[in-house]
Amino acid sequence: MPEKCILVTGGAGYVGSHSVIELIAAEYSVVVLDNLVNASMESIRRVEEIVGKKIQTYNVDLLDKKAVEEVFGKHKFSAVIHFAGLKAVGESCDLPLLYYKTNVGGTVNLLEVMKENGVNNLVFSSSATVYGTPQYLPLDEKHPIGGCTNPYGKTKYFIEEILRDLSNAEKQWNIVILRYFNPVGAHKSGKIGEDPQGPPNNLMPFVAQVAVGRRSELKVYGSDYDTPDGTGVRDYIHVVDLAQGHVAAIKKVEEGCGSKTYNLGTGHGYSVLDMVKAFEKASGKSIPYSKVERRLGDIASCYADAALAKTELPWTAQKNLDEMCEDLWRWQSTNPNGFRSADGK
Ligand code: NAD
Ligand code: UD1
Repeated sequence: MPEKCILVTGGAGYVGSHSVIELIAAEYSVVVLDNLVNASMESIRRVEEIVGKKIQTYNVDLLDKKAVEEVFGKHKFSAVIHFAGLKAVGESCDLPLLYYKTNVGGTVNLLEVMKENGVNNLVFSSSATVYGTPQYLPLDEKHPIGGCTNPYGKTKYFIEEILRDLSNAEKQWNIVILRYFNPVGAHKSGKIGEDPQGPPNNLMPFVAQVAVGRRSELKVYGSDYDTPDGTGVRDYIHVVDLAQGHVAAIKKVEEGCGSKTYNLGTGHGYSVLDMVKAFEKASGKSIPYSKVERRLGDIASCYADAALAKTELPWTAQKNLDEMCEDLWRWQSTNPNGFRSADGK
C-alpha cells in the first residue's frame, strides 16, 4: 500500500518537528509547510538526519492562500496536522490583530483550501489554556471553556468553535482537537528541541538556560498559591509523548471519527520547585532562583484528566519527569544557543 501523505503546518517548530519524526516512524510520508517565523530550516535538516530521509518543506505563509493552494496542487494529502501559528501570550496582548489574523485567519485559509481539494481529515493543536481558570481539577474535556484572559488563548478557543461549526455543517469532516498541557523535553538524540527566541516565557526553557549559564537565575512567579509548596502546579508532558499522541489522532481521523476533542497530558501536577529539583538532578547543575510576585494571568494549578485519550485514541503518556529533564538537558547542553550554534546566526 502506498504511504499516506500528511501535511504538517508548522512542522519546523518545536512540537511539529518532533511529530514529523513520529509520523515517519509510523510509516507516513510527510510534507511540511512553515513560514519559519519562529523556526529555522536547521531543525528540518536535523530531523532529516534523524529519520534518514529528505523532508519536502515549503517556506509558505498560511496567510498567502495562493501559495497554500499551490502546495495542495502538488501533493495528494490524506490529512493535515495544523500546528502553525503564533503562541507568545505577552506578545498577543500587545499585537492582538496579528494573532487573530495569523491564527484564526491562517486556519480559515487552510480549511478553505482543504475543502477545495477534498481533504477532510484534520488534527488541530489547541491548548489547556481554553479552560481558563479551573472550576475543578483534574480538567476533563467537559470542563467549561472560553474563559481565556489573553488574545492567544482566545484564538485557540475561537478556532475550536470554528471547527465545531464546520463539522456540524459538513458531515464529511473528521476533526480531532488536541488540548495540550505543558510540553517539555526534547528528542532523545539531543539534535532537536525547543529554541525560544529571546528570553523564554515558559518555565523549563528558562530553567535550562540558567543551567547552561545563559541566564543568572530563575524568577519563581508566586510562592503563595494554594498548592503544596506555594508555587504554581502544571501538567508537564514529554514532547515525544505529545508527538505520538498526534499519530494516534491521525489514525482516529482516518477511521472517520467526526469531531472529537482530547486532552493530551499526563494527569500529574508538578510545582515549579518540583521542576527545579528534577532538573538539578538531571543536569547536575544548581539552579539559583528567587521568589517574586505572581505573574499576571497565571493560575495556581492545572492538570489533565487524561482518561478519554486513553480509552478512545488510545494513547497514554509514557515518559516520566526524569526523562523530560534528562532529554531537555541533553538538547540544551549540546546546543547552548539552540539551532543558532549550527546556523551561525
Ligand atoms: P512553534 O512556534 O515552535 O511552532 C509553530 C510553527 O508555526 C513555527 O515553526 C512557525 O514558524 C510556524 N508559523 C507561524 N505562523 C505561521 C504562518 N502564518 N504560516 C506558516 N507557518 C507559520 O510552536 P510549538 O510550541 O511547536 O506549538 C505548535 C502549536 O501548538 C501552536 O499552534 C501552539 O499554539 C500550540 N500549543 C503549544 C504549546 C506549547 O507550550 N508549546 C501548548 C499548547 C498549544
Ligand atoms: C503558559 C501560557 C499558556 C500556554 C502554556 C503552555 C502564560 C501566561 N500562559 O502557561 O497560555 O498554553 O504556557 O505553553 O504565559 N514560571 C516561573 N518562572 C518563569 C516561568 C514560569 O515561576 O520564568 C512558573 C509559572 O508561574 C507557572 C509555571 O512556572 O506556575 C509554568 O509556567 P509556563 O511554562 O509559562 O506555563 P503556563 O503558565 O502553564
